[in-house]
Amino acid sequence: MAKEIKTIGVLTSGGDAPGMNAAIRAVVRTAIARGVKVKGIKKGYQGLLNEEIIDMEAKDVADIIHRGGTVLGTARCLEFKTPEGQQKGAEICKKHGIDGIVVIGGDGSYRGAQALSRLGINTIGIPGTIDLDIACTEYTIGFDTAVNTAMEAIDKVKDTSSSHERCSIIEVMGRDAGYIALWCGIANGAEDILLPEKYDYNEQEIINNIIASRKKGKTHHIIINAEGIGHSTSMARRIEAATGIETRATILGYMQRGGNPSAKDRYYASIMGAYAVDILLEGKTNRVVGYQHGEFVDFDIEEGLNMQKSIDEYQFEVAHLLSV
Ligand code: ADP
Ligand code: F6P
Repeated sequence: MAKEIKTIGVLTSGGDAPGMNAAIRAVVRTAIARGVKVKGIKKGYQGLLNEEIIDMEAKDVADIIHRGGTVLGTARCLEFKTPEGQQKGAEICKKHGIDGIVVIGGDGSYRGAQALSRLGINTIGIPGTIDLDIACTEYTIGFDTAVNTAMEAIDKVKDTSSSHERCSIIEVMGRDAGYIALWCGIANGAEDILLPEKYDYNEQEIINNIIASRKKGKTHHIIINAEGIGHSTSMARRIEAATGIETRATILGYMQRGGNPSAKDRYYASIMGAYAVDILLEGKTNRVVGYQHGEFVDFDIEEGLNMQKSIDEYQFEVAHLLSV
């Protein structure tokens, strides 16, 4: 028989993402509506190990749905990767009467949730990352806001780049995943898109394209470069030297992770937060919430982590086709 959940904890972990606050709000308010107490755990697993644990009431999450970042704070915690750290975390949960935890974060955070689940603390993960790189879900909290932030910034760079007839390399976030780069590549009509999933790009081909399109009268050339490829400044120097066309690098950086969440991020985060609490109260544990084929679903964490996701070849091809 499933153990009765009287108190749940909620934490945000890994890189923050716009919409995490909407998820926290939904977890707190759904739990309270179902007659369950909530404890907020600050600064991810690090805060759990430091016992930075606070009681949360419905009013404590008022006025946060529209705010970027996470009101609970987030952190990366090496100690929690060790069996000793995980054991200590589970004991702290028991000491504070926490029977179940909702973890809002990415793949790494799910591993921590899995460890807690093995140690008897019921856990549910919610996908929170701007990178869209969690295979078991078509949606991750924060991607929509981040990609729109990057798109608007790139539009602005493109304006000045066209006026000066320059080439621009714009670096967007994504150390291991190129979804922000691909989406901006299409949404901004970029001439080239460099993704960490495709390291084998040919710089000479890019240089040839720049020269050819300039001959045809094109006044700009936008290259969206993902963080995982990086080196935008040195790439700009090489392209300028080879083409004779002024080339500038712009690294958008952390601005992409901040800002007020979009309606989509607020909406999905709210439903996912409520869904996580409800399946926790059904007695489920070691699950991750996802959005697949128009529905909110949940998977075993291991099953979710073993799923594969890759850049869609057709979409990548279309991006190039449309930029001619
Ligand atoms: P994300 O959750 O965004 O993928 P990280 O990979 O940095 O971000 O993971 C966030 C945190 O989750 C880590 O700092 C660590 O505390 C915890 N974590 C990551 N991997 C593991 C693991 N294998 N076992 C236990 N905890 C982990
Ligand atoms: O949140 C995801 C992400 O933005 C990645 O795209 C990036 O590589 C990473 O986080 C950087 O995180 P930090 O510098 O905060 O460790």
